[in-house]
Amino acid sequence: MKLVDNKATLSFSNGSPSVDLPVYAGNIGPDVIDIRKLYAQTGMFTYDPGFLSTASCQSAITYIDGDKGELLYRGYPIEQLATQCDYLDTCYLLLNGELPNESQRGDFHKLVTNHTMVNEQMQFFLRGFRRDAHPMAVLTGLVGGLSAFYHDSTDINNPKHREIAAIRLIAKMPTLVAMAYKYGIGQPYMYPKNDLSYSGNFLRMMFGTPCEEYQVNPVLARALDRIFILHADHEQNASTSTVRLAGSSGANPFACIAAGIACLWGPSHGGANEEALNMLKEIGTPERIPEFIEGVKDRKYKLMGFGHRVYKNYDPRAKVMQQSAHEVLEAVGDPNDPLLQVARELERVALNDEYFIERKLFPNVDFYSGITLSAMGFPTTMFTVLFALARTVGWIAQWQEMMEDPSQKIGRPRQLYTGPTQRDYVPVERRG
Ligand code: CMC
Repeated sequence: MKLVDNKATLSFSNGSPSVDLPVYAGNIGPDVIDIRKLYAQTGMFTYDPGFLSTASCQSAITYIDGDKGELLYRGYPIEQLATQCDYLDTCYLLLNGELPNESQRGDFHKLVTNHTMVNEQMQFFLRGFRRDAHPMAVLTGLVGGLSAFYHDSTDINNPKHREIAAIRLIAKMPTLVAMAYKYGIGQPYMYPKNDLSYSGNFLRMMFGTPCEEYQVNPVLARALDRIFILHADHEQNASTSTVRLAGSSGANPFACIAAGIACLWGPSHGGANEEALNMLKEIGTPERIPEFIEGVKDRKYKLMGFGHRVYKNYDPRAKVMQQSAHEVLEAVGDPNDPLLQVARELERVALNDEYFIERKLFPNVDFYSGITLSAMGFPTTMFTVLFALARTVGWIAQWQEMMEDPSQKIGRPRQLYTGPTQRDYVPVERRG
């Protein structure tokens, strides 16, 4: 963070003295005005619900240019990583700042692989849930529960503990997700198989059974790996900010990630992929699209999988996802799948309609990920769970970065109070 010569001066029309505020520049992206001393200098807060203009931290992990439709992990464009890199190398990059060399790569893959099993006791904890519980509810519980099992990695002031907690979370997430799924459908859990790739192992734990050998389809494993890369981090979004806020109080990493999962579940965030597929199913055929679009314009509902707080251009992840959707449908699905036809037509109509053009509403990553995951055999309730699995590395990298930042303080937003001013207590018999 570099202090620039330019200062911001805040002046008041009521004659109060103006204040100079320092301005800092990042490496790319907008400069920021440092308002940390604003309250001390003026007795005023800033007001920014939804953080539309507020940088909550400095970060060197992920950069988004929403107008250009650009997403960089540690400087590397997402399109290059998604097509040339694998998920575990991307995890290494997000956590350490650089892509691994040959030996670092081998060590990291081995380290993660060595932590894929979960404490056997976790399955009894899982058994307390209803079989029809939403897997996001189950995952929130299981991940929060990890802090009760792995006491030797919850000392947040110990860098070794922080590192091992990070590895455990990345390694165990696929195992927990698959357990939650198997529990819901009443099949036996599959233990991890460490000679498979991260995605291959996950596919086997999800769709394999102990009665038969499971053959990993390399097209599906690659597509899933790509989905994981696309979802691995996305700078200071709602769930990442939740993880940071939870972590700022000194909570342990497992508790923080559980908080992030809870936040991700919302339909405006990670829950949108589930909602987007349900919407395509509800539309059913391309002929029904005009009627559906009218409903969106009448504000009866939103077009799920469209729009983004930051991208006001095509979501770069959606482009890669669109290509993956075709590959997967060619390998295992029906390229003439009516859902894909509805999706293609809906995209075409929306991109040419003044309502969407004016509001810069482009398809986001969730628009195509639902179709892809569905063709791979994942039920819709698992979509957001897969998002959580993939985002875990981003959350933990951001949490680690915050823990190492000397300017880190407990997060404590202020407010503009609009409730009653002080008044005296009235006994119940005198209340009207
Ligand atoms: N369908 C129809 N209209 C929309 C949509 C949509 N999906 N998204 C925004 N708008 C309209 C909105 O009604 C408003 O119109 P007006 O100016 O006439 O009132 C205008 O566009 C601006 O909307 P906004 O609510 O101010 O935009 P936002 O930046 O606060 O919201 C969003 C971003 C992602 C919450 C929103 O676009 C949305 O709800 N999209 C659908 C859910 C979705 O797909 N979410 C996944 C995001 S990508 C995955 C992730 O990173 O979490």
